Amino acid sequence: MIKHVIDILDLSVDEIDGLIKCADDIIANPEKYAHKCSGKKLATLFFEPSTRTRLSFEAAMYELGGNVLGFSEAQSSSAAKGESVADTAKTVSCYADIIAMRHPKEGAPMVAAQNASIPVINAGDGGHFHPTQTLADLLTIHREKGRLDNLTVGFCGDLKFGRTVHSLIGALARYSGLKVVLISPEELKLPSYVKNDVLKKGGIEYVQTASLEEHMPELDILYMTRVQRERFFNEEDYLRLKDSYILTPEKLAGAKSDLSIMHPLPRVNEISVEIDKDPRACYFKQVLNGKYIRMALILKLLKEAGTID
Ligand code: NCD
Repeated sequence: MIKHVIDILDLSVDEIDGLIKCADDIIANPEKYAHKCSGKKLATLFFEPSTRTRLSFEAAMYELGGNVLGFSEAQSSSAAKGESVADTAKTVSCYADIIAMRHPKEGAPMVAAQNASIPVINAGDGGHFHPTQTLADLLTIHREKGRLDNLTVGFCGDLKFGRTVHSLIGALARYSGLKVVLISPEELKLPSYVKNDVLKKGGIEYVQTASLEEHMPELDILYMTRVQRERFFNEEDYLRLKDSYILTPEKLAGAKSDLSIMHPLPRVNEISVEIDKDPRACYFKQVLNGKYIRMALILKLLKEAGTID
């Protein structure tokens, strides 16, 4: 059976630990991996805008010695003519060895996986999930903190539509000693399918607040997010909520000296650029780690599919 990664829960804790070890080894010994995917092709099917996710997938495949084909907007694919995701997946299976797909509709990469004969990786589906950003986040947390358990993590901003938040909470909930602080305006609270199914069911300690500063001194990690303009039904609501939280040096006054400040990027206004110089800022490390963990994931899926040794 071909393994796909649609939800972060498609990977067991052991598999995630293995990917982190592999990424650490790639960082230490890149030359060992330079030809592992020689002659193999990654297809990047991006029906929604992306900078980091698409380019890091592409850079990952090139650094493994492989090649890349694909499209970066729906308008330049046959989706513009009305082709279904299922048919696109069957077609691309004839040309490539592995697919990374981003789509505005929740569930589209799952449909692709059901129809493809090669591994499919979800590179973000609507306001739902973003498992490979989560892998980048977990690698970053592990490299910064040396552990994934016993962490107090604050998630701030658009917790309703922020798919990176949903996937990261799902992943961290499987490690012990997690405490979660959910910081958002009323309208952008975490959806109940994450709050009930993950936090409540998992017996995870969590609090909800509208204040960024209230729990700052307790946090090991502060995960800032952008208000997801493209998922709003009207512009007025977006304009009212977009600047709900702006992290400035003053707001960090009570924070731990080893706090890790994270953000999946793109940043709009949520983190003042002054914070970039703060040694606690980790968001550009996340960008780089995203490439290494995607290399590890491509290797794993292609090995399991029998495409590479
Ligand atoms: C995120 C996404 O696409 O969900 N970006 C990313 O992949 N790093 C976050 C966002 O767009 O706000």
